[in-house]
Amino acid sequence: MTATSRTEAQSRGRASEPAPDRSGQPRRVTILGSTGSIGQSTVDLLLRHRDRFTVEALTAHHNAGLLAEQARTLGARFAAVAEPAEYEALKEALAGSGIEAACGRAALVEAAERPCDWVMAGIVGAAGLEPTLAAIRRGRIVAFANKEVLVCAGSVFMREVLAYGATLLPVDSEHNAIWQCFDFARVEGIEKITLTCSGGPFRERSLPEMRDATPAQAVAHPTWRMGAKISVDSATLMNKGLELIEAHHLFQLAPDLIDIVVHPQSIIHGMVTYRDGSVLAHLGSPDMRTPIAYALGWPDRTPAPTKRLDLAEVGRLTFEAPDDIRFPALRIAREALTRAGAPTVLNAANETAVHAFLAGKIGFLEIAATVERTLELLPGGKLDSLDDVYDLDRNARATAAQMIAKRAQTVSVARFAEPTDGT
Ligand SMILES: NC(=O)c1ccc[n+]([C@@H]2O[C@H](COP(=O)([O-])OP(=O)(O)OC[C@H]3O[C@@H](n4cnc5c(N)ncnc54)[C@H](OP(=O)(O)O)[C@@H]3O)[C@@H](O)[C@H]2O)c1
Repeated sequence: MTATSRTEAQSRGRASEPAPDRSGQPRRVTILGSTGSIGQSTVDLLLRHRDRFTVEALTAHHNAGLLAEQARTLGARFAAVAEPAEYEALKEALAGSGIEAACGRAALVEAAERPCDWVMAGIVGAAGLEPTLAAIRRGRIVAFANKEVLVCAGSVFMREVLAYGATLLPVDSEHNAIWQCFDFARVEGIEKITLTCSGGPFRERSLPEMRDATPAQAVAHPTWRMGAKISVDSATLMNKGLELIEAHHLFQLAPDLIDIVVHPQSIIHGMVTYRDGSVLAHLGSPDMRTPIAYALGWPDRTPAPTKRLDLAEVGRLTFEAPDDIRFPALRIAREALTRAGAPTVLNAANETAVHAFLAGKIGFLEIAATVERTLELLPGGKLDSLDDVYDLDRNARATAAQMIAKRAQTVSVARFAEPTDGT
């Protein structure tokens, strides 16, 4: 991509810099996925700055108890749980509070559509697509953590952002870092960006050790505290593959202008290299409240109670290239970016495989293998509309699930046939 075409592309649809809201009124906030790790960090910041923010709506999947507690503490107007079976529990927990309770997918969309200034997209997985799009279509400022939405819907999603004049503020720590270092007014001066990667809990493990890894080992991330799905993605390095695709869309950069480097200390989150050789890096302690605080108050800075960086205490910052042999997910994601629809298939297969791994149905190394095999059977497809996205997503989930079910049959037949001692 030439500098000129990159400039044009960026002015068409990058993580945006719209006119800031300077009304002086408290910012009215909605959190999609308030009971998750990103959601709880956002709630923590809101409670520390009650004079600057008010809360319109909160959502969860199952966790009606925590959702109701958050809604009461923050004085929200509306709380929605996706799972209808949790509706009674939510209603009961909110009784007498004046807070409206609702359930189901339509209620999540309603939460996203209610009047507010700022929406945190903090649901995990493609399940966040519909409510996040609802916020986009109201032209909101959307703090964007839910990367799977952009991986599965890609340019279709970015078109909606532009069409409705919405604003995407990157929350993923690497993209938030790039956003803070990226000279949007002079993109022709940018040579490339670099996303850092902790390497996850298995960075120094052998392939046989990884084959036997348990879900508990995979979610024990060395530097970040996160939800189960993203923790497993970090262990396979698929998280970095998803982030590569996310960065491609957010910053409108060709994939070969996006580097990944393993940096186990997670202190430098992202870097922008300029044509004169200057490299601007963003540093901070690994705590999501820093990028969330930046998005929450943007364009103003919001104080966050995170551990301040003491480089003498950190001592050494080290870097290494990702190992494609033990961690094929990054290569698979890079290849997927070359074919229309392939990122949609990759995301759906990965979500299916990660759930199967967490449920004990497949081994750790089979996560990437399932994604790769699904992409062989379903290499991509037309992605012109949201219907295309939903169709491809559904097909890819079914293909991956079939593969996992067949594999489970093979394993139980093999176990049955295994000779026991003394035979
Ligand atoms: N955690 C991090 O540090 C971090 C950093 C960067 C980016 N991200 C991204 O941010 C997103 C959220 O991650 P997380 O770690 O916060 O996840 P998490 O802890 O698992 O929380 C997910 C949230 O989404 C809700 N949810 C889950 N499935 C849902 C469904 N089918 N429909 C509606 N709501 C659903 C959950 O509700 P329940 O609590 O009721 O299950 C919860 O509120 C992910 O896309 C992740 O990749 C996270």
